[in-house]
Amino acid sequence: MLCATVLLAGCQSLPASTAALTNADAVYQQRSPSHDGIGKVYMGREIAEVMGHLGAGWLERPSREREEQPQTLIKALDLKPTDVVADIGAGTGYFSFRMSPLLPQGRVLAVDVQPEMLEIVNALKQEKHITNVETVLGSVTNPNLKDASIDLTLMVDAYHEFDHPREMMQAIVQALKPNGRVVLVEYRGENPLIPIKALHKMTQRQVRKEMSAVGLTWLETKETLPQQHILVFGKQGV
Ligand SMILES: C[S@@+](CC[C@H](N)C(=O)[O-])C[C@H]1O[C@@H](n2cnc3c(N)ncnc32)[C@H](O)[C@@H]1O
Repeated sequence: MLCATVLLAGCQSLPASTAALTNADAVYQQRSPSHDGIGKVYMGREIAEVMGHLGAGWLERPSREREEQPQTLIKALDLKPTDVVADIGAGTGYFSFRMSPLLPQGRVLAVDVQPEMLEIVNALKQEKHITNVETVLGSVTNPNLKDASIDLTLMVDAYHEFDHPREMMQAIVQALKPNGRVVLVEYRGENPLIPIKALHKMTQRQVRKEMSAVGLTWLETKETLPQQHILVFGKQGV
């Protein structure tokens, strides 16, 4: 049945001809979930399951320094001391806290949809006496940021699990300042030897296609990390 393959409120009541038109135009499709996926497909990619807050300890694993080289990533971001950075899908704030010392006149907005993750960020913030990291509870469609307020949006290992990627990215674009940048860091989907589940990796081609769909312009890809792409985008006309 058509409506089983289209995620659209109210589609069951549409006449067949309208529903067929809607199917071709639908942003998302639904199929049976594969292992680690939610069965929802966006631009040919099945969306991954969200990493639950019970996995928070994994985000802080000591081997991450070697596997992901966070300082190499932070350097690649070319942060300015006044930048306002949105760390979307911040988890425990692994990157928020590493960026905060470089932003003495700026700040980090650590956004997540899981309040339990934000509680961890707030506890670590107190423990580390950090004042320029603020938590923001987002929804699955909106990071709840002010329009034209963000210099840089960072998403590390997070975008592939957004269950409304189109709506999230449209809201992120709206929250960016005119010269703002969006940086996505994703495990390289082109390399089957990288020991990460397939739906938790992305190819450069797929990321560029999805960012182009919301009007972002690809600026560069930095391949300085051992296993992840760093893809940098700007608003069109930058
Ligand atoms: C694998 S964790 C990565 C956390 C962090 N970026 C890091 O690298 O340590 C992904 C995080 O994205 C969050 N997330 C998933 N969908 C989201 C959405 N639509 N908006 C904001 N956060 C989201 C999850 O709750 C989870 O904390």
